[in-house]
Amino acid sequence: MTILSVSAQAAQELIDSVLNPAPGSERYSSYGSEIYFNRNLYNITPIASTNYDRLEASAKLRLPPAAYDYAAGGAGLEKTVNANREAFNKWRILPRVMRPVQPARNLSTVLFNRTIPAPIVMAPVGVQTLFHPTGERATSKVFGELGLPYTLSTASSTGFTDVASSNGVENPRWYQLYWPSDDDLTRSYLTTAKANGYEVLVVTVDTWDLGWRTRDLDRGFFPFIDGVGVQIGLEDPVAHQKLGFNPLATNATAEQRKMAALYHTITTSRGISPVWDNLWKLREVWGDAPIVLKGVQSAEDAKLAVQWGLDGVIVSNHGGRQIDGAIGSLDALPAIVEAVKGKVTIGFDGGIRSGADIFKALALGADFVQLGRPILWGLSHEGVVGVRHVLKSLLAELEITVGLVGYARLQDVNATLLVGK
Ligand SMILES: Cc1cc2nc3c(=O)[nH]c(=O)nc-3n(C[C@H](O)[C@H](O)[C@H](O)COP(=O)(O)O)c2cc1C
Repeated sequence: MTILSVSAQAAQELIDSVLNPAPGSERYSSYGSEIYFNRNLYNITPIASTNYDRLEASAKLRLPPAAYDYAAGGAGLEKTVNANREAFNKWRILPRVMRPVQPARNLSTVLFNRTIPAPIVMAPVGVQTLFHPTGERATSKVFGELGLPYTLSTASSTGFTDVASSNGVENPRWYQLYWPSDDDLTRSYLTTAKANGYEVLVVTVDTWDLGWRTRDLDRGFFPFIDGVGVQIGLEDPVAHQKLGFNPLATNATAEQRKMAALYHTITTSRGISPVWDNLWKLREVWGDAPIVLKGVQSAEDAKLAVQWGLDGVIVSNHGGRQIDGAIGSLDALPAIVEAVKGKVTIGFDGGIRSGADIFKALALGADFVQLGRPILWGLSHEGVVGVRHVLKSLLAELEITVGLVGYARLQDVNATLLVGK
């Protein structure tokens, strides 16, 4: 009898380690067990699908058509949006078996001198209150909970301080700059970003003018004119000086608020490309802290980024929202890895829809990946609840994939595990 109860206790402990892992011993892949047992014990199923296409479909049902199209759409005929996803189909994973992989798979990495639990970063995405009233507050909170870097966009609908506080004091935070045409404003944004603990500056260089976004054009939808996505400008003290008024003051008129919204929009999407020669202006304010260029597709530009002393490049085509008929972002990655791997940090975004996609981009040599649309569709499912579900699902699938491919550490994963189709 004693023997039986001892073994029953051991069995219970084994079951508990999966169902109720001790704090600190949870694994990302535990999220799968959590889903199965929530259904079994409480008849609760997840807030949204774990499959991207079904997730997007249910987000579409929840969102106003203009908001859905704003996020789903791209430039022109949307061939680049499609190319981003097709690029992932050109690679197939080749697993290894019978290798000593333990249940705990280590996904951690070091980015810009900071150890983070997985090489996954929130892509800078503006106007998030279009997708749920809690917008950037919700997304930054969930990335903070998981200790993953959160990038705040210059087109945010929530300001630097509010996002810093929802993100959490010690968590890694980055700031994405749409480089203003006025150097005083640039200095002011960067100074406020630094003061609020944003550690890495991401300079978007492919969106100095708006792409030809047909879905938005067809309904004349441009949220910034309505004052969504301009909070950074509305709160900025230098912008107040330039305007001669504070648009957030209680006595500000509706016309003044509209003018301030337009001023921010026009100064940050000015129709004049940023140039290498002016990078020193950013360094002057940002100092030695990391500066990364987002929107690089050519290996030649990646090499120039190294020559100009940048700390990283993000291989991205803005989710296909800028140039129609361009190459898929993943198609651009191998040549850039070949040209600059080890010299600067390489980020990647565009078309990531699953943990297996994340695996492929990292195996091809990206040091980190960014998540865009999947998180927005999550956000549309009741804010933090949906974002948490999507992020935890992607992390779980990534961890499972790394293990099933035969590896214990994500850092050991490389392109030998992929076969080109
Ligand atoms: C609705 C929306 C808004 C975006 N806003 C910004 C932005 O403010 N700044 C920026 O650098 N990129 C922005 N992006 C581009 C993302 O950072 C990222 O490059 C893109 O979403 C990656 O493609 P994917 O979402 O299809 O994976 C935006 C993308 C979407 C879908």
